Amino acid sequence: MRNPVGLRFMMFMFMMFMSCLVTQVVYGEEEVKCIEREREALLRFKASIVDRYGMLSSWTTPHCCQWQGIRCSNLTGHILMLDLHGEVHEEISFNFYLEFMSQRFVSGMIHKSLMKLRQLQYLNLSSNSFGDNNIPEFLGSLTKLRYLDLSSCGFNGKILTQFGSLSHLKYLSLADNNLEGSIPRQLGNLFQLQHLDLSRNHLKGKIPIQLGNLTRLQYLDLRANDLEGNIPSQLGNLSNLHELYIGHGGALKIGDGDLSENTLMSTMIFQWVSNFTPNLVELDLSGNLMEGSVPNHFGVVMNSLEHLNLYYNRFKVEVLQSLMNICTLKSLNMGGNNLNQGLSSILRNLSSSCARYSLQELDLAFCQIYGSFPDFSTFTTLKTLDLSSNQLSGKIPEGILPSRLESLSLLFNSLEGEIPKSVGNTCTLHSLDMSYNRLSGEFASIFQHLSGCAKNVLQDLKLGSNNINGTFPDLSSFSTLKILDLSENQLSGEIPEGNPLPCQLESLSIQSNTLEGGVPKSFGNACALRLLHMFNNSLSEEFPVIVHHLSGCTRNSLEILSLGMNQINVIIILGFESKSIVRKDSYINGIPP
Ligand SMILES: *[C@@H]1O[C@H](CO)[C@@H](O)[C@H](O)[C@H]1NC(C)=O
Ligand SMILES: *[C@@H]1O[C@H](CO)[C@@H](O)[C@H](O)[C@H]1NC(C)=O
Ligand SMILES: *[C@@H]1O[C@H](CO)[C@@H](O)[C@H](O)[C@H]1NC(C)=O
Ligand SMILES: *[C@@H]1O[C@H](CO)[C@@H](O)[C@H](O)[C@H]1NC(C)=O
Ligand SMILES: *[C@@H]1O[C@H](CO)[C@@H](O)[C@H](O)[C@H]1NC(C)=O
Ligand SMILES: *[C@@H]1O[C@H](CO)[C@@H](O)[C@H](O)[C@H]1NC(C)=O
Ligand SMILES: *[C@@H]1O[C@H](CO)[C@@H](O)[C@H](O)[C@H]1NC(C)=O
Repeated sequence: MRNPVGLRFMMFMFMMFMSCLVTQVVYGEEEVKCIEREREALLRFKASIVDRYGMLSSWTTPHCCQWQGIRCSNLTGHILMLDLHGEVHEEISFNFYLEFMSQRFVSGMIHKSLMKLRQLQYLNLSSNSFGDNNIPEFLGSLTKLRYLDLSSCGFNGKILTQFGSLSHLKYLSLADNNLEGSIPRQLGNLFQLQHLDLSRNHLKGKIPIQLGNLTRLQYLDLRANDLEGNIPSQLGNLSNLHELYIGHGGALKIGDGDLSENTLMSTMIFQWVSNFTPNLVELDLSGNLMEGSVPNHFGVVMNSLEHLNLYYNRFKVEVLQSLMNICTLKSLNMGGNNLNQGLSSILRNLSSSCARYSLQELDLAFCQIYGSFPDFSTFTTLKTLDLSSNQLSGKIPEGILPSRLESLSLLFNSLEGEIPKSVGNTCTLHSLDMSYNRLSGEFASIFQHLSGCAKNVLQDLKLGSNNINGTFPDLSSFSTLKILDLSENQLSGEIPEGNPLPCQLESLSIQSNTLEGGVPKSFGNACALRLLHMFNNSLSEEFPVIVHHLSGCTRNSLEILSLGMNQINVIIILGFESKSIVRKDSYINGIPP
């Protein structure tokens, strides 16, 4: 025993460890067991469920309170909570396909045995697949429910009127199903309700005036349905409302029923909004073909509004100007309104507005805005600017971008000339889309201009469908680049060997240029490359050589390789180990499907 003190210390630690263990075991035994009747109900429920992803794999042991997704009351052992939400992450990858990743859900029938969970307070079944079934009627008898989330489950049929008797309900989401029929007036009985989401269904008819009784409501979402008639003035009593979404509602109108339709359309919708919901933080009125003006005091009254979505309505430029008097405004989407105005004059007026100091996102796409690109640099808080699909023309001057801009979309305009150096000196710019313009100059020069501090953050660069010429540029210093589109330009000559592609590059589109020769070895060492579009060029290298050059680590990542419409003799594809090239709609000698 060279170190008896140390040994004693270890013994002490061991004893402590044991006693902790004992306490835990005792604690475990003391924990209330689950109630056998409820356990059986869960097992019966499980039996009618198809569980491909093993979400219910822990549902075997005697202690049902320890099963995944289950919580019991410490005092009574009754099941209070059943959280079985699935996960379906949709990734819209790139131009040509949509991919589903990390899905996890159950399907099948919801057995009525769940009815036996009389004390259930929380039920979350969202993002599972109970397609082609109606919402089970017995759910209307679980009167202790406080939270009920049945969103994205594929339910058909109508909303149960029985939900009106779930008087403790604080949260009800039926969003993103295929529900039909009208919104039951009985929902107006749910006096505790704070969150109501019925968006993305096929609900018809009028918004029941009884919803005006839901005075605790903070969140109301009726987006993307086929509702009609007036938005009831009774909603004016919802003074706790923070978020109101009635975009793409169908044919909703503002005002009282006794006004003629013509008056309704031009009624001051903002007057109405400001009268009833001064605490609103987020308002979505998109896609309703609304028109009208904004009362002068609107900016003063709406002193908490941060996010306003008026996409696809019929508002004029004056409305934009008035809204910019909301000093709290962070994001404004006026896309798809017919502003029909020169950008310089719009901006001159906005420069004196108070939202200039708060605005982070401005969307003015599809607004018939014309003229040259003016100086945005005084909008110092702006992070996202979308002016795509307008009629902007001329060259882009130097020094016009806000210094903290992160995303700039100018696609589908008629902008000319080169990309100015100052764009490359925007140190936060991670996304730049200038496709479908009339940009010219040489790629070498454009990438030289972009290689200010922006080259350390730029992830997404789209310059397709312009008139840019020259050879394939050196991209090696653009270390963060993930998506690069240079298609439909005048890229010519052979792609030089030697310059590595950015190691994070996932998608490279250089189709429809006049590139010659083959594919350099450096492309085969781009370990993240998933999409390589080179069709419609003048490539002529032997196909086996191309495959050989691509068979560095790229062979494990590449999912789509398109080389069609070149002068390559294609014989056979061999040697790619990527799981996905087999799984995906891969094509090697054709244009995209
Ligand atoms: C029940 O026990 C758990 C675990 O010890 C504890 O976190 C929770 O707060 C308890 N709940 C009540 C209502 O006592
Ligand atoms: C239900 O689960 C989803 C996750 O899919 C979550 O977003 C949602 O907030 C949950 N609902 C409730 C009421 O907690
Ligand atoms: C609910 O609203 C309707 C119509 O606005 C009203 O007539 C009714 O009295 C209200 N019900 C309760 C219980 O407040
Ligand atoms: C709002 O509620 C009050 C009583 O709480 C009622 O007198 C008034 O008519 C309601 N307003 C609307 C627009 O429903
Ligand atoms: C600019 O704003 C002023 C006052 O708000 C208005 O009278 C004028 O018409 C606006 N100019 C343009 C070009 O919209
Ligand atoms: C690119 O086009 C310009 C005219 O727009 C021309 O002056 C220049 O020589 C061209 N460069 C190359 C490499 O073809
Ligand atoms: C091929 O590229 C040329 C320009 O180089 C373009 O005009 C043509 O439309 C392209 N064809 C296809 C099918 O993309």
